[in-house]
This record gives sequence, structure tokens and C-alpha cells, in this order.
Amino acid sequence: MLRLTQFLKQQETPADLIELVNLLMAACKEIDGKLQDGALAGILGAAETENVQGETQKKLDVIANDILKLTLSNTNLVAGLASEEEDDPVACDPEGKFLVTFDPLDGSSNIDINVSVGTIFSILEAPNDSDPAQQAAYLQSGRKQVAAGYVLYGPSCILVMTTGNGVHMFTLGSNGEFYLTRESVQVPQTTKEFAINMSNQRFWDQPVKDYVADLLQGEEGPLGKRYNMRWIASMVAEVHRILTRGGIFMYPWDSRAPQKPGKLRLMYEGNPMSFLIEQAGGRSVNTQIDIMDVEPEQIHERVSVVLGSKEEVETVLRYHGN
Ligand code: AHG
Ligand code: MN
Ligand code: MN
Repeated sequence: MLRLTQFLKQQETPADLIELVNLLMAACKEIDGKLQDGALAGILGAAETENVQGETQKKLDVIANDILKLTLSNTNLVAGLASEEEDDPVACDPEGKFLVTFDPLDGSSNIDINVSVGTIFSILEAPNDSDPAQQAAYLQSGRKQVAAGYVLYGPSCILVMTTGNGVHMFTLGSNGEFYLTRESVQVPQTTKEFAINMSNQRFWDQPVKDYVADLLQGEEGPLGKRYNMRWIASMVAEVHRILTRGGIFMYPWDSRAPQKPGKLRLMYEGNPMSFLIEQAGGRSVNTQIDIMDVEPEQIHERVSVVLGSKEEVETVLRYHGN
């Protein structure tokens, strides 16, 4: 079986990018270790702090963020980082070639119930003469990503990543090495499985209400098929399911916070997941345009997300008149 580094070399990935991915994986293995220890290490529960977005942090949100920050600050490869759990961008090595944005622990409401969580990362090049302590350096569209991926901490610890040459899955062995376990993943073009938090139904926009009402009618409705539903409340786990067997995932704008475009974050969740989904032949849109074409204006910006099997995402676009 091929190790992660061997596989990336075969793909002619530049040596500095391979080194950065390996560093990120060293951090993720440490996070995996903390998650394995769980209650034994006294690290479950809330941290009694809020992040810049006003969300209560879990202890493990803070621990995972600190592990990634420390790892990425101790290399000359990284000019700076931006994290869901940091108020401002963090400058690292002024000579660093890359910027890294990440969601250190995604799905963190699942930690205390021992259900899958993940780490999401996106790698950009640091623009020449940019200041990695300032937002402007990071405000690049998803199309500029040089690599993106996630680590799913589930029954197995799995890395799923792309450098723009397809999407590949690696499983962490007991010897601490990631091995290639699925190459060139493709999302099935059609699906009968949807994921949306139905408790927000009354807050959705009319096109989303109409689409979900129609799909709930099953084979008797205008969409002509019977759908199944899943909601894990962990985007990493939902995207992993969709990459594995297809489906559609939606976290659209809703009227609970009308001034925000959505709940999920463009730089830490929307863009990296969109890169993976597009590389696997799926689509990822904000109900109007491809998420990777959104020009970010702030690092903590939110985005409406509809992603997954191409034909189903395009059905949702049609409900929005696109
Ligand atoms: P995070 O734990 O990083 O804040 O992200 C949680 C996200 C995403 O993973 C998931 O799809 C969604 O929030 C769940 O939201 P609800 O609890 O509103 O369903
Ligand atoms: Mn998240
Ligand atoms: Mn998070």
C-alpha cells in the first residue's frame, strides 16, 4: 500500500507542499490522540469562552486550534494562518510561501456524544509583498487554493485531500502512517439522499422550502423519486458520506440571521469542501454561483452552501431560477 508521501510524489506534488501536508497531518494525529483520550484527559465539554463569531467554544475547539497553530508557526513554509477560532490572522514566517486557513474542529457539538468530528484545511499561496497579519492576504477566491482537505476522526481516522489532481482518501494505520485507501473518488451524478437541518424549515427562503416540499412528496411529487434523509451536524462527516455514496448537503441562508449569507464559513468550510466536491465531479454552489467563484471580503465571512451530486445541485439551482 502507498504511503501519503509516496503517493503525493507520484502525483508530482512540489516538495514544499508535501512537507506542509505532512506537518498538518502531524498536528491532526495529535488531535486524533486527544479525541481518543476524551473524558480520560478531562477535555470534553465547553471552554467557557466564545470565538469571534459569538459561538461558545468547546475545550477541544481550543486545543485543536492551539495544536495546529503551534505546528504551523514552527516551520518556514507558512507565512500566516487564519482559523475559525482566531479573531485575527496570525503571522508566522515572513519568508513562508503558503497561507493556511482551517476549521480546527468541525462538528464540535458532536464531541460530547462521541460522534464523528473533523479538521478542515485550505492552502493558498501568500501573495508577494502581502502582510500575513492582515486579512487582505487571505481574501482569495476558492479557485486559488493549491490544496484542501479534511481529516475525519471517526471509527477510522481518514485524510481526504486534493491538490487539483483528483480526490484521494488515506487511512491512518496503527503505525502512525497514512496509507492510500481510495484513489480518484467520484461523486455519483444523481442521488436520492438529502441532508438539511429540517428544524430550520420555517426560516428558509421560498425556493428551498419548495424544493424540500417537492422532494418529500417522493415518487408522487414533481421530482419523481423517493428520498432518504441524513443529518449528522458535522459537515466533514456529511461530505465524507457524499464523496463515498453521493447525496446533497444544504445549509442555506435563513431568516434567523438575515444579515449573514449563511451559517457556514467560506474560508474554513465552504471553499475547501467545494474544491473537494468539484474535483470529485460534483457541484458546490451558494444557490446562485459556484462557491469557489465567490470573492471573499472578510476572513470570517459566511456562505450559503448547497453541494453534492451534480444533477441534484443543479435541480436546486433551477428552483432558484438559475
Ligand atoms: P463547527 O462545529 O465548526 O462550528 O461547525 C458546525 C457546522 C457544520 O459542521 C454542521 O454541518 C453544522 O454546523 C451543524 O449546524 P446545526 O447545529 O445548526 O445543525
Ligand atoms: Mn465547522
Ligand atoms: Mn469548528
